[in-house]
Amino acid sequence: MEAQVLELLNAKIAVCTACRLHEGRTQTVPGNGDPNAELMFIGEAPGANEDQQGLPFVGRAGQLLDELLAEIGFSRPEVFVANVIKCRPPNNRDPMPDEIGCCEVYLREQIEGIRPKLIVLLGRFATQYFLPDATMGGARGQPFQAGPWLILPVYHPAAALRNSNLMQTLREDFAIIRPLLDQAERPEIAEVQIGHAHGPAKEDDDSQRSLL
Ligand code: URA
Repeated sequence: MEAQVLELLNAKIAVCTACRLHEGRTQTVPGNGDPNAELMFIGEAPGANEDQQGLPFVGRAGQLLDELLAEIGFSRPEVFVANVIKCRPPNNRDPMPDEIGCCEVYLREQIEGIRPKLIVLLGRFATQYFLPDATMGGARGQPFQAGPWLILPVYHPAAALRNSNLMQTLREDFAIIRPLLDQAERPEIAEVQIGHAHGPAKEDDDSQRSLL
């Protein structure tokens, strides 16, 4: 998607008051990276560092994510990283179902705008967004087709930091990413136009270019 469309979405998220989490946030954490990335990661929710900086995965879990990415030859600017919810829950508690519901529209617009070839789901909340009945033990390391989206559930980096037994498994699951991407195609779905429903725009027709 165009960078400006992503900025517009980020601006919408920045003023969101749809659920209680807006009351405790320092700022929203919409996600960041390449708006045309082939590879997207979805985590759970911002933590304290993310809430302070407005960026996803900048704390310890983020450092581990960077290392795991480097091991398979990716850097953060090449991928897109987002969370299921865009505001930090108090004391890092689990997101509640209604909070996930309120934020769903933003994640959907991100995914549909980026149209990644592969979405890596970091942990239970991202996995259950696509596969509601899945357990991490059962789903991790297996690619699934969810409608147009190719998804790969893996353990959350924070879980591997808490339980070192999971670290090797997480590394092995990251090793699947490159070969999966090499075989994957970009899903053919219509580009989303945020905030406007309208027909196909001509290149030179400014009246059809959404809210930019
Ligand atoms: N954990 C997450 O799920 N997301 C972040 O952005 C940071 C830590």
